[in-house]
Amino acid sequence: MAHLLSTSCSLKITSCRKPYSKQLNESSNAFPAYFSLKITKDLYCPFGSLVVQRGKQQRICTVRATTLPVDQEAPTQPGSGFHQNSNGPSPPKRVMVIGGDGYCGWATALHLSNKNYEVAIVDNLVRRLFDHQLGLDSLTPISSIHNRIRRWKSLTGKSIQLYIGDICDFEFLSESFKSFEPDAVVHFGEQRSAPYSMIDRSRAVFTQHNNVIGTLNVLFAIKEFREQCHLVKLGTMGEYGTPNIDIEEGYITITHNGRTDTLPYPKQASSFYHLSKVHDSNNIAFTCKAWGIRATDLNQGVVYGVRTDETEMHEELCNRFDYDGVFGTALNRFCVQAAVGHPLTVYGKGGQTRGYLDIRDTVQCVELAIANPAQRGEFRVFNQFTEQFSVNDLATLVTKAGKKLGLDVQTISVPNPRVEAEEHYYNAKHTKLIELGLKPHLLSDSLLDSLLNFAIKFKDRVDTKQIMPSVSWRKIGAKPKTVSA
Ligand SMILES: NC(=O)c1ccc[n+]([C@@H]2O[C@H](COP(=O)([O-])OP(=O)(O)OC[C@H]3O[C@@H](n4cnc5c(N)ncnc54)[C@H](O)[C@@H]3O)[C@@H](O)[C@H]2O)c1
Repeated sequence: MAHLLSTSCSLKITSCRKPYSKQLNESSNAFPAYFSLKITKDLYCPFGSLVVQRGKQQRICTVRATTLPVDQEAPTQPGSGFHQNSNGPSPPKRVMVIGGDGYCGWATALHLSNKNYEVAIVDNLVRRLFDHQLGLDSLTPISSIHNRIRRWKSLTGKSIQLYIGDICDFEFLSESFKSFEPDAVVHFGEQRSAPYSMIDRSRAVFTQHNNVIGTLNVLFAIKEFREQCHLVKLGTMGEYGTPNIDIEEGYITITHNGRTDTLPYPKQASSFYHLSKVHDSNNIAFTCKAWGIRATDLNQGVVYGVRTDETEMHEELCNRFDYDGVFGTALNRFCVQAAVGHPLTVYGKGGQTRGYLDIRDTVQCVELAIANPAQRGEFRVFNQFTEQFSVNDLATLVTKAGKKLGLDVQTISVPNPRVEAEEHYYNAKHTKLIELGLKPHLLSDSLLDSLLNFAIKFKDRVDTKQIMPSVSWRKIGAKPKTVSA
């Protein structure tokens, strides 16, 4: 499949009625919304030509998107963000989940909805387009976002609002903000794969444009329309790199030439993706200071697992599970490799150590951050992981768990496609979320058994061609990389 380059696109709501308007509640629990798809020539969007013919400089077409579910119940009164009562501010109620169709976002949207938050998902579905573009697929069959939301409503009676569009399009984002009036925004809506950002120049540019501009737009939308709104932004532990000293939670106190200051912890990102996260963090920190934005940067570790209490309720709620060399994360990949009899692919020496967490803890951490918001002007940083492992540790754990299930698990060392230390010191602090009440799900034998059983259940869906890494940090070039059919 040739790599597709030449257009950018944005989905815009041109006629968007207030989700809680009275007429809507009277008429139906699902209503059509009308979107215009504006396509302009631009190099930033490597998926544009999947949805339009190439060669057109500017086209507007109308897309009728169905089913923005509308709550039948009496609307929650939209407030100024933090509602005062006699005991002080009550917790935020209306949460916008940007990137709510993705791996972490979908699980989080359901979890918050289950906890009686009013939830709106904002997503341009670009993650599904990346799969088409690269010929990848989730191990688990996943339903469309519309069917997911309908199924959730039918099972629980709870509505999730849906805004389909690109947060890089400020007009779209503004309309979504004015319509939904969030008290908190959880921002997962980024291109999140380091290998994807290292495929070629256009993907590197796309990643930084999508992530940095998207986040800037969110900051401007909060300033313009919801200044009390709390931004909960997903960063990554990868921002810190692997320094030869302990990693603190966001800040470090340094004494230099007899003077002492507490400063942002140094960042040493190791891909264009990780660098986009560092830029985001700097932009957020600046706007907290300059405009009084309240923000929590969740420097998340590598997430594993697929089930949460909510996604388990029905197969149509099932979350995505990536195992390929571009989007798959280490432990998920190893479980699938073990299930299909592929040797576990340890990159280089395998001493690369990182923080990890169960997806059930991702949703808990986000809920804790929302329920305990940052102060106005505060840029708060939490390291969001529960345990640290080296790649070799993970391979040993999966081998042991596989043997118990009768699998013959082998390990191979493959040339490391990344530029990273393969043996290094790593000790990252992660106490702040525990202090707020996080109860971690640690990687016990039983969890590994169930993850492996899960991989075994879906092993017929595995495309073994997608297992080996195909993106090299050193070989990235300006030329668009083609994807073999
Ligand atoms: N998965 C992990 O292990 C992990 C680890 C650390 C940090 N994170 C961070 O958590 C966040 C979510 O990760 P994930 O694994 O769920 O990723 P994902 O790719 O599964 O989900 C991201 C979602 O955001 C949407 N999106 C992307 N750009 C958008 C845009 N411009 N406008 C609207 N929607 C957009 C995508 O369509 C997708 O549904 C990311 O910011 C990522 O950097 C993830």
